[in-house]
Amino acid sequence: MRKNIVAGNWKMHKNQHETVALLQEIIAQKKTSTTEIIVAPTFVNLAKAVEITNGSEINVAAQNTHQAEGGAFTGEISAGMLTDIGVTTVILGHSERRAYFHETDALIANKVDTALKHNMRVIFCFGEELKDRQINNHFNVVEYQLRDGLFHLEKADWRNIVLAYEPVWAIGTGETASPDQAQEMHKFIRELVEKVYGFDIANELSILYGGSVKPDNAKEIFSKPDVDGGLIGGAALNANDFLAIVQGFE
Ligand code: G3P
Repeated sequence: MRKNIVAGNWKMHKNQHETVALLQEIIAQKKTSTTEIIVAPTFVNLAKAVEITNGSEINVAAQNTHQAEGGAFTGEISAGMLTDIGVTTVILGHSERRAYFHETDALIANKVDTALKHNMRVIFCFGEELKDRQINNHFNVVEYQLRDGLFHLEKADWRNIVLAYEPVWAIGTGETASPDQAQEMHKFIRELVEKVYGFDIANELSILYGGSVKPDNAKEIFSKPDVDGGLIGGAALNANDFLAIVQGFE
């Protein structure tokens, strides 16, 4: 179901003590809002995060999961292990997984299938690099990432899909896409999903923008008709900034 979502991708930040402190600040300071709030701490702090956020209307997501049900995969975490501790949302395909850990569209598609099999909600990340945009190839890149990562799914699967368009050149750089750039790409994405899956699926899809969203730019980005929220990195690590971004919808 399409709704406004602000998700904080904490990446490899915050030990257990810092995680508890930040979550307690967010819970204490958050105002009632129709916007769904999601936090994604590191694996080691997920169980604690689920415990602390219980009853707070804040949902907890993992930043990744393995594609297998289990086995000799040293250092990996399975979808079943995540749902077992109450984590029912997972970020997949983040540009840092693609770049640093060489995750291909095919591997990410495999991870999506496993997560959906465990009835997890998937925040599927994708987006072009600067070199793609500079040669006006960004729409093609985004289309291929969606086709190769998600367009094998059945219509019913899409109820558990949230899209996160994150232009790589905007991640962690302070170079935010302009609200018009974000809207142009989100509109393209929604129209592409409609072409393949029909109006109802496309119209019910939440499409988040990620890439240097801050308190001073969130409101204008979120005001765009095809932007349904944000996937936040750096600004998610500070309760005031993160909640100011959530207020961008109010
Ligand atoms: O997943 C969200 C993240 O990649 C965006 O990072 O620091 O540009 O908000 P940041």
